[in-house]
Amino acid sequence: MTLMFDPTRLSACALPPDASARLRPIVIENERPADGPAREALLDEAFGEERFAKTCQRLRDGRATAEGLALVARDGEALVGTLCCWNVTAGDRPALLLGPVAVARSHRSIGIGSALMREALLRAAACGHKAVLLVGDAPYYCRFGFAASLTRGLDLPGPVERARFLGFEITPGALKDSKGMVTAADVPACKRASSLRRAA
Ligand SMILES: CC(C)(COP(=O)(O)OP(=O)(O)OC[C@H]1O[C@@H](n2cnc3c(N)ncnc32)[C@H](O)[C@@H]1OP(=O)(O)O)[C@@H](O)C(=O)NCCC(=O)NCCS
Repeated sequence: MTLMFDPTRLSACALPPDASARLRPIVIENERPADGPAREALLDEAFGEERFAKTCQRLRDGRATAEGLALVARDGEALVGTLCCWNVTAGDRPALLLGPVAVARSHRSIGIGSALMREALLRAAACGHKAVLLVGDAPYYCRFGFAASLTRGLDLPGPVERARFLGFEITPGALKDSKGMVTAADVPACKRASSLRRAA
């Protein structure tokens, strides 16, 4: 997917140093194996070292991302955004855990985070996932349809601010009456993932 920017949305403070090149498209695509160091640097910039102590990290440690759901945003060769999803079990049913999501400071507020979120949710739906969980700022994620009310019966394996523990139903009712612990899950590769990989 290619995201074309509306130049009228760019403010002077949003312009990166190479503003003359700003009108080139930002591309959302699958993360490549060589992207690891740039992705980690971006996450360090966004969240700092304490990101490794977060409760959600317990569900990611040592695991691979869900098939077709490790995305990056690229501005030319520069990695300027990242979003990953992970397979989990939410009490008695499968779900995705979304995050971390981060956009480089130099590229914020021009729609890259939203583009990553939309692409991830579309891909998740195409792969047959029915529900998505995350821990994050509700004022940002509620615009995509996430709500704390959908995770009321669920627990995470560590401390969490309930107002930041959010759910999204791809299939209406997918989180209805969900109860219990969220645990990491191993799930077979998504049938659509290889075609999504080709399309990206
Ligand atoms: C959160 C983040 C991914 C958003 O990426 P982005 O590309 O700047 O997002 P978009 O351009 O799609 O959206 C920007 C809008 O979201 C708002 N926004 C950004 N972060 C927000 C937050 N934590 N809470 C509420 N609103 C937020 C901006 O004010 C802006 O609002 P506007 O459209 O009314 O001007 C990015 O700011 C980031 O990496 N932040 C560091 C990590 C972080 O703080 N994450 C918090 C969420 S868990």
